[in-house]
This record gives sequence, C-alpha cells and structure tokens, in this order.
Amino acid sequence: MFGKKKPIPQIDKDQLELIENAQRRIKQKKRLYIHFVIFLIGAIFLIIANTVLGIGKEFTILGKEWFLFAILLWLFFFIYHLFNVFVTQKFMGKSWEKQQLEKLVAKQQKRIDKLKAGFIKEETLIAQSEIYNETNPNPDSYRDQNTTPKSSKSELTIIVAAAENDAIGLGNKLIWHLSDDLKRFKALTNGHHIIMGRKTFESFPKPLPNRTHVVITRQSDYKVPKGVIVVHNLEDAIDAAKNDSKPFIIGGGQIYKQAMALADKIELTRVHHDFEADTYFPKIDTSIWKETANIFHEKDAEHDYEFSFLTYEKK
Ligand SMILES: NC(=O)c1ccc[n+]([C@@H]2O[C@H](COP(=O)([O-])OP(=O)(O)OC[C@H]3O[C@@H](n4cnc5c(N)ncnc54)[C@H](OP(=O)(O)O)[C@@H]3O)[C@@H](O)[C@H]2O)c1
Repeated sequence: MFGKKKPIPQIDKDQLELIENAQRRIKQKKRLYIHFVIFLIGAIFLIIANTVLGIGKEFTILGKEWFLFAILLWLFFFIYHLFNVFVTQKFMGKSWEKQQLEKLVAKQQKRIDKLKAGFIKEETLIAQSEIYNETNPNPDSYRDQNTTPKSSKSELTIIVAAAENDAIGLGNKLIWHLSDDLKRFKALTNGHHIIMGRKTFESFPKPLPNRTHVVITRQSDYKVPKGVIVVHNLEDAIDAAKNDSKPFIIGGGQIYKQAMALADKIELTRVHHDFEADTYFPKIDTSIWKETANIFHEKDAEHDYEFSFLTYEKK
C-alpha cells in the first residue's frame, strides 16, 4: 500500500537445521579421516622405531614386540571413533533425540486438540447462556436460575428459527437440522408452557417432555394425549398459561402472525441462507422491535448453515 519493500531472501528454520546437521556430519567424518591418516603414519612410525631404529628392541610383552600392542590399542581407539561417527552419532545423536521428542510432542498435541474441541463446544453454550443472562435479567432466561425471585408479570416470548427469506417450514416439517438451535430451544422452553397451532403440534412425533403444551384449533372435538391443553383461540391459549412467568409461542406461521402484536419478546434463530418454503415468519418491524442480543454461530461439521441467535424486545 505504502510502496513495496524489497524481499529479503530467508532460510526457514528447518532448512537451517538441515544445513547445520550436514556441516556437523562433514566435520565428524573429516576428523575420522584425519585420525585414520595419523593412525597409519603412527603405526608405520612405531614399526620403524622398533625394527629399524631399534627403540625398545629388548622390551617384549608375552614374547611379542611392544609396538604390536601399541598399534592394536590404537586400532581399538580408531574403531571406537569409527563406530561413534557411523552408528552412535548417525542413529542416536542429537537429531535422533530431537526426532523422538518431536514425535512425543506431536502425540501430546493431538490429545490436547481433541480435549480442546470438546471444551470449545461446551464453552460456546455456556458463553451464550451467560450473554443471555446478562442481556435478559428475567430469572427464566436461557438457563433457569432458581435463586432469583420470579417476576409477577408474565413475558410472552415468540421462539422461532427463520431463514434469511423468513422461511420456517415446508410440508409441515422444519427445513433444516441445527442441533445447537434445538439445544437452545430445549434450554429456553424447559419447564414452560409452549403455545402452538394444531399443525405444528401434529408435526411432532410426540409431545415434548417437561413442557405444558397448549394447542390452538378450531376443531371442537380435537383429541390430544393426556396433559395437552386444547384451546380455540390465541387469547385463551395465553390465558391457559397465565401462571407461567415465561410462556412461549412456538409456531407455526399462522400462530406467529397472530402473536406478533401480543408478544413481548422474540427469540429468533436467523439461519443465514434462503430456502424454498410454504410457511414464513412475519417481517420484524424494527420500529416496534429492538435487537438486544446477537450471537453468531459458524457452519461446522454438525451445522450445515451459519446462523445467529437474535433477541428482540418490544420498544
Ligand atoms: N422454523 C420454526 O421455528 C418453526 C416453528 C414451528 C413450526 N414451524 C413450521 O411451520 C409449519 C406449520 O405452520 P402453519 O402456519 O402451517 O400451521 P400452525 O400455525 O402450526 O397451525 C395452524 C392451525 O392452527 C389453528 N389455528 C390457527 N389460528 C387459529 C385461531 N385464530 N383460532 C383457532 N385455531 C387456529 C388451525 O387449526 P385447525 O385447522 O385444526 O382449526 C390452523 O389450521 C410447519 O412446516 C412447521 O414445521 C416452523
């Protein structure tokens, strides 16, 4: 941006290590070669000293001339040197130690990464829950906090997952599977009344555990499992949940449309993608609703789409 810098040629750490290693090996071999030459000259010198110059001629060990033992001893040292250069230094030298250390470190790192991956997931959920608790002082927000006193006014919350084009369903089914969104839905609605249209109720294989289901239908003889409350309009549904400090409107399209005017809050999962659908969430009028929380969730192995947890509260 502000003029180009001349690139300085650089050798990376691995290349530098290779060069240093090669230099060390050359030095070791050079020293061995010098040792060999000195050994040869020395051996010849010892033979001449004894046989030609007659040095220590009368000194023998086990009936043999002393220079033979001197040369043998030296040969032994030379072989030891040879062994050191070609076996010990080559296979078990500093670089061998380093390789072993690197292998061990890599193994440990793999284990740490595995543990980290598990923690990150847990941390994300805890962090989200904390942000929600901060932005929403209601005792029932995200994770129930039994220690805080309950507010006497009930807070009607719409909970929905909608695409960028507001798509929410197709063929009376959800369009996507986002496990962290389902986890959040479960955490938020746990222990509360969930108000829904008859079609949404029928899209469940069975009633969800630990929640009071309130189903809205125009049918006067609509049969439901024990514990499920049936009402015939939205106002009666809200009335049926009047003792709950935080009842939820959980859909679908028809019920969301009618509930927008009555709700205090929207917990929206915005899926960052457009989908073909037959059911849509109504447009959120930002002159009425203000965004109070926004948590982005990346696409990953378990989630095919990016999405954000958004909270809106009535101004
Ligand atoms: N993405 C999400 O978060 C989400 C959440 C929930 C649902 N969904 C999707 O939404 C779709 C279902 O939505 P939907 O709009 O087709 O149906 P719905 O809103 O779930 O239910 C519609 C039914 O509710 C009853 N109803 C509606 N208004 C009423 C009123 N004022 N008084 C009495 N009864 C009333 C009627 O039942 P009767 O016909 O029996 O009279 C009506 O047919 C599905 O695809 C589902 O998967 C998505």
